[in-house]
Amino acid sequence: MEKMIFDAHAHYNDIKFDDDRESVLNSLPDKGVFAAVNNGTDYKSSLESIKYAEKYEYIYAAAGIHPETVPEIDITIIDDYIEQIAQLAQHKKVVAIGETGLDYYWDIPKEPQHLLFEKQLQLAASINKPIIIHDREAHADTLGYIKKYCPTGLLHCYSGSVEMLKEIFRYGDMCISLGGVVTYKNARVPVEVAKEVPINKLLLETDAPYLTPVPFRGKRNDSSLIMYTAQRTAEIRGMTLDDVLKYTKENACRFYGVEYK
Ligand code: NI
Repeated sequence: MEKMIFDAHAHYNDIKFDDDRESVLNSLPDKGVFAAVNNGTDYKSSLESIKYAEKYEYIYAAAGIHPETVPEIDITIIDDYIEQIAQLAQHKKVVAIGETGLDYYWDIPKEPQHLLFEKQLQLAASINKPIIIHDREAHADTLGYIKKYCPTGLLHCYSGSVEMLKEIFRYGDMCISLGGVVTYKNARVPVEVAKEVPINKLLLETDAPYLTPVPFRGKRNDSSLIMYTAQRTAEIRGMTLDDVLKYTKENACRFYGVEYK
């Protein structure tokens, strides 16, 4: 079977995989998973991502600092944190900086979030790697940074409008990824986005273990379940499942610099 699933964004270091991580990660290629990018949220999880990438051929790593880790960070030594990430990013299987970005949903101080995000935008540009961006209820400020830095970037679990899409694609080389949310009955904007986004700008993701697509919503997510997100995306766009898988795999390979096979 040709492996057609490229999961652009996952977290296999999550505690929800502690009991059976190895068997899950061993099982995915036989379920059609071609590649998955495991994202760091701090130094430790970025290092773990690299360990998985060393052990499993199909796993790639992203190294970065997530805005939700701000409360644990001593912002006076931010350059030390960034330097650690820069070191990790030299590893040959680190394909991106991330995940980073802005989160205004939780009550997290904004100033250190901005500082961390901006430093990681600069790092990604300086080492010529794409950046994986988390934007939760922070659309205007996220867009501001995209305009300022014109990154090669992925807005993961894209939650903005169709209008915002048109804006972000004017700057840098931006893509978006969609996850299980497009399969949810109450999903209105994500469905519009899935319909309108240019096919060459679309990636698929799980954000595993979270955001599991219907019919497994509420259970733990893994990369094989992208099939359901792809199927729903195909329905919305009037495309075949095979074409959605092929295009999103091609896009992810191009974006992350992974050879398409
Ligand atoms: Ni994530």
